[in-house]
Amino acid sequence: MNIDPRPSVISERLSGVGRVIAVTGWKGGIGKSVTASALALLLARKGFKTGLFDLDFAGASSHLILGARGLFPKEEKGLEPPLIAGVKYMSVVFFSENKAVPLRGANVSDAIIELLAITQWGELDFLVLDMPPGINDAALDIMRFIPRAEVLAVTTPSVIARDVLDRSLALYRRLKLPVLGVIENMSPSRSPRAGRIRPDPALEKAMGRPAALLKTEFARDLDRCVSSIFGKM
Ligand SMILES: Nc1ncnc2c1ncn2[C@@H]1O[C@H](COP(=O)(O)OP(=O)(O)O)[C@@H](O)[C@H]1O
Ligand SMILES: [Mg+2]
Repeated sequence: MNIDPRPSVISERLSGVGRVIAVTGWKGGIGKSVTASALALLLARKGFKTGLFDLDFAGASSHLILGARGLFPKEEKGLEPPLIAGVKYMSVVFFSENKAVPLRGANVSDAIIELLAITQWGELDFLVLDMPPGINDAALDIMRFIPRAEVLAVTTPSVIARDVLDRSLALYRRLKLPVLGVIENMSPSRSPRAGRIRPDPALEKAMGRPAALLKTEFARDLDRCVSSIFGKM
């Protein structure tokens, strides 16, 4: 009989983690990574023990957003994520040496599952996952291996993005994945309401500098989204 021990290893590894938030979106370039990175920074600033795990093999980018140059996990009974701006940080990029990784679907899934199984998060209030775009094998596997992950879906105001979002929400419902909320990024609304983040021309200048990122309009809008989605924290 072929029994896969990894799901139980992963749930054991995550046993000290309060909530797992998967920042998803069905397209690239819509702001998943800036949202996931800034969310982790905001939660840490609020005093929560927070981790961030960049799982996007093809487009890992949170290391650039946070300025994680020169960091590497410590090998100690598994991998211990380094701290950056108060956030325990892990990324697939640590293992791809910044090169594009020519992995096919099953190998990507295997690599991600392996990393989930060996990373030592310890005690965390929140673990934020920066998810790959779409719902490919890797994304589905992550959800399968962390069934308690709560989805925070990122979208943009375009008709196409909304349509894709609706289909993704229908799939999450079918898979019985809890959806925490939807963030509409790059929303042109002049009177921003909860759940919306406006375009912030100054965001680019804050790349690689967590303290500066937390001071952007983007982070302020996201903080408002966080309050409405998570309730008073
Ligand atoms: N609200 C925003 N205002 C300005 N630039 C943004 C905003 N949201 C995202 N961006 C920029 O768009 C690009 C793509 O964002 P990213 O988070 O990498 O998307 P994804 O992870 O969905 O591929 C980045 O250069 C990011 O800085
Ligand atoms: Mg990304």
